[in-house]
Amino acid sequence: MAFTIAIDGPAAAGKGTISRAVALHFGFAHLDTGLLYRATGRRTLDGTDPVEAALTLRPEDLDAEDLRSPDVAQAASRVAAIPEVRQALLDYQRAFASRAGGAVLDGRDIGTVICPDADVKLFVTASDDVRARRRHKELCEKGHDVSFLEVLEDLRQRDARDSARAAAPLKPASDAITLDTSSMSIDEAVDQAIESIQTALGKT
Ligand code: CDP
Ligand code: CDP
Repeated sequence: MAFTIAIDGPAAAGKGTISRAVALHFGFAHLDTGLLYRATGRRTLDGTDPVEAALTLRPEDLDAEDLRSPDVAQAASRVAAIPEVRQALLDYQRAFASRAGGAVLDGRDIGTVICPDADVKLFVTASDDVRARRRHKELCEKGHDVSFLEVLEDLRQRDARDSARAAAPLKPASDAITLDTSSMSIDEAVDQAIESIQTALGKT
């Protein structure tokens, strides 16, 4: 059975955390599509052309160091606005989504462009302040030397760029269920996501 779950939303909304938990719960495979853009963006920091970087992306690029840093996040958001970069990463994502056994993909355009026919679409969001606090804590724990205001600025800049671009902008699919996690713990957010998915599974 190819059952596809699309999880989109702005930066640091909790997409990855929810996706991983949901994938574990249902035994589905998970793809963090942001990693593809981060790895592409990181390669451009060495001077590689963005389209060339996306076309020649290798599995080991997804394990590169610093992929989670704000600099790489910014580079990811810049290359993500280039239609040829998005096109280069499309087939891999579609093939992953249609694998037998079920798949969860998280990103910005999963429910709108990559998997418009996904069985369940969630749009995970939270206030700017909450998202920045969570990401700041996470980065500090990983040893990054970055201030709260720098993190807030990174999230706001990327969300603005990701929403304003012409190619696959960040926006909820018309049939997406919105999950505002501003005042939810991780467990509460995961439980709500599982409930929505369980309901959809019951209908298939
Ligand atoms: O994937 P995305 O960038 O949307 O977010 P994430 O990396 O899953 O979550 C960002 C941070 O928020 C992580 O450190 C999560 O542990 C934390 N988080 C949280 O504190 N409460 C939630 N309800 C969801 C995520
Ligand atoms: O974890 P966080 O939400 O901060 O970022 P991410 O999901 O790793 O994505 C990094 C950047 O990649 C985003 O700011 C987007 O510009 C881009 N991206 C995208 O355009 N489309 C996707 N499906 C996933 C990420």
